Amino acid sequence: MILYLILGAFVVVGAQEGDKKPVGSVEFEQPTADVKSHSDVSVLNDADYAKYHDCDEILASGSYKEAGSYRIYLNQSEPIVVFCEFELGAASYVFSIQKHGWGDFVQGYYNYEWGFGSISDGSGWLGLRRIKALTDAGNNVLTVTMQGCILREKRKLVWNHFSLGSPRYRLNITGYASGHVLPDDLSHNNGMLFSSIDEPDANNCAVNMRAGWWYNNCTYTLPTGRYYVYCGHYPPRNQFYDGLFYKDWRGFGYSMTYFRMALSRN
Ligand SMILES: *[C@@H]1O[C@H](CO)[C@@H](O)[C@H](O)[C@H]1NC(C)=O
Ligand SMILES: *[C@@H]1O[C@H](CO)[C@@H](O)[C@H](O)[C@H]1NC(C)=O
Ligand SMILES: *[C@@H]1O[C@H](CO)[C@@H](O)[C@H](O)[C@H]1NC(C)=O
Repeated sequence: MILYLILGAFVVVGAQEGDKKPVGSVEFEQPTADVKSHSDVSVLNDADYAKYHDCDEILASGSYKEAGSYRIYLNQSEPIVVFCEFELGAASYVFSIQKHGWGDFVQGYYNYEWGFGSISDGSGWLGLRRIKALTDAGNNVLTVTMQGCILREKRKLVWNHFSLGSPRYRLNITGYASGHVLPDDLSHNNGMLFSSIDEPDANNCAVNMRAGWWYNNCTYTLPTGRYYVYCGHYPPRNQFYDGLFYKDWRGFGYSMTYFRMALSRN
């Protein structure tokens, strides 16, 4: 009995050690990684009475340094749960991620507006309302991080201005800052309205590519595209490439194993 308890204690400690993620980052992973169930996701400041305005305040409190889900009060009327990362002493907000492939980004406009999936579990979309609230509050730097099929083959791209307007969360994106890494495949979507399968664009791209996005007679990158579990080259579907692609890195017909978008302050 005692031996059993001691062994049990070791197993628990071992599991916690193994689960530990590097502080302030969402790690890159291969698609075989374990996925936590939805119910395991917890809001890390749930037991805290302080009403933090944003993730910078959470960081400044000194009580938290772990990346994860936090409740913030951008305004007093409606607290929102966001996914904060803390890197180099500043906060950023992950608003779209696909890395395990269990999530489904083929969703209607309502879900794109209110959010779906679970960002802390590695597949989710924060929702246009909350994304807009974050950009309205001054988090206008967009960082896109993506990973090809080979481990450590990744790229990080930055745009200095990303904001959403109206109607339909019209995209305003300028200030590409990573020309030395890859060509800019996102500014092509500047000024476009958000479209989805049930709220299509004039060229029916959202229907053909099945993902919600700011299409401009389609797109050169699709972070909300379909996760092809085997990674890499995939065939077009009815002549449309619908994977997680970035045209000027691996081409339309190559789907990434990891694709993430995050916002931060200047
Ligand atoms: C409060 O925040 C929510 C979500 O962040 C936003 O949609 C809403 O417009 C905000 N309300 C005001 C009065 O600013
Ligand atoms: C887009 O953002 C830039 C930079 O903040 C701003 O100068 C410009 O007026 C915005 N454009 C629109 C259409 O809102
Ligand atoms: C949209 O793209 C298609 C395919 O490249 C092209 O045939 C069509 O003329 C374009 N439509 C508009 C309105 O530019």
